[in-house]
Amino acid sequence: MASNSLTIRDNRTGKEVELPIIEGSEGPGVVDISNFNKDFKLFTLDPGFRSTASCRSAITFIDGDAGVLLYRGYPIEQLAEQSSFLEVSHLLMYGELPSPNQCGHYRALVSNHTMVHEQLLNFYRGFRRDAHPMAITVGVVGALSSFYHDSLDINNPRHRDISAIRLVAKVPTIAALAYKYSVGQPFVYPQNKLGYVENFMHMLFAVPCEEYEVSPVRARALEQVMILHADHEQNASTSTVRLAGSSGANPFAAVSAGIGALWGPAHGGANEAVLKMLTQIGDVSRIPDYIRRAKDHDDPFRLMGFGHRVYKNYDPRARILRKAAYDVLRDAGREDDPLFKVALELERIALEDDYFIQKKLYPNVDFYSGLILSAMGIPTNMFTVMFAVSRTVGWISQWLEMMNEEDQSIGRPRQLYTGHARRDYVPMKDR
Ligand code: ACO
Repeated sequence: MASNSLTIRDNRTGKEVELPIIEGSEGPGVVDISNFNKDFKLFTLDPGFRSTASCRSAITFIDGDAGVLLYRGYPIEQLAEQSSFLEVSHLLMYGELPSPNQCGHYRALVSNHTMVHEQLLNFYRGFRRDAHPMAITVGVVGALSSFYHDSLDINNPRHRDISAIRLVAKVPTIAALAYKYSVGQPFVYPQNKLGYVENFMHMLFAVPCEEYEVSPVRARALEQVMILHADHEQNASTSTVRLAGSSGANPFAAVSAGIGALWGPAHGGANEAVLKMLTQIGDVSRIPDYIRRAKDHDDPFRLMGFGHRVYKNYDPRARILRKAAYDVLRDAGREDDPLFKVALELERIALEDDYFIQKKLYPNVDFYSGLILSAMGIPTNMFTVMFAVSRTVGWISQWLEMMNEEDQSIGRPRQLYTGHARRDYVPMKDR
């Protein structure tokens, strides 16, 4: 038997087939089961994709046991410390850090696409005043496709590129408009003299009646939050973008589908849930009670911001954000923030608790990001929108990668059917 294969024996027939093992550049290899159905007349069953790689990708690598996250090979800690969000966007989309010239060109390209068509603003007015900003964002990003009929040919690389830039440039504007609409403030237009993150903050927080100055400490913290959320290989929302895109849907529709998938509390909605949980706990004295509840299988309560499908070690993003949370709270004069105290103590107690140690449950990226956003004055219902803005670059990079594959085909999983066997229709009078 070749060392790069796995032999499967069908005990029903005695048939043996060697399945090739394909090695990647890092991490575990994969068993190629693309001919499995032809060989055995069977499908494989893996709900939740716990053992299934859905694609090849050269963008992001995670070693969940070691707590390692690489974008195009670069450790997330180095990027968060030294890089900018636009630089990281370029890296994710095109594969390399930009040279100074490329960086200037990319920055100008994105800046020149930050405005949205005036008619797009009419969409906002159709939403209820109290609509969740995620509901608005999912709708308006999908609606973007109706403005670009002339550049929606997904088989044209230039159309793909310009759509990608439009998404990276316009999603912060769309998100800020959703926020402004929800608080009843006038829409603020983008300012191209500002950096990407500073402009986003300006669109979120400026009002016509006074000057808005972007705090460098907060801008840096938000830049870090955005870098850390930019991509995370084949998570639920990215897989959704790929699956929607695999049918030939345009990238605005595919990203809108991804935003929908991100909304759930087990994914992007978790940072909103963390803040609600911290508020509910309210005081360090109540932590033991919540830890007890989290460990009780009969209680649906889970420690939000803890645990991860892939990380079975400290999420490297959480470590960076814990420090960023300190910085922002200090900048806001809220070093003694009671929720931050609860968060730190909750983390300390959980990390010493047998249940969490044995199940390898560590703080994930969402545990501290909500505290940072909240200290910046961003309301909880905007947290997942902020995540969507950051992840747009990852979604579009993954979509571009998929569209460039030669053997790209529609994603179409199969199932184990558990319903009725064939039966005949019963006329209404006989039921
Ligand atoms: N609190 C208490 N117990 C937990 C938690 C938690 N946060 N997370 C997992 N567990 C327990 C489960 O009850 C289960 O116990 P069991 O084996 O005795 O049945 C065990 O740990 C494994 O949990 P699974 O749900 O099988 O792990 P999975 O990989 O499917 O789930 C998930 C990962 C969804 C993130 C989960 O840990 C969770 O719900 N965490 C809270 C929500 C959260 O923070 N989500 C953000 C994820 S990061 C992101 O999307 C950006």
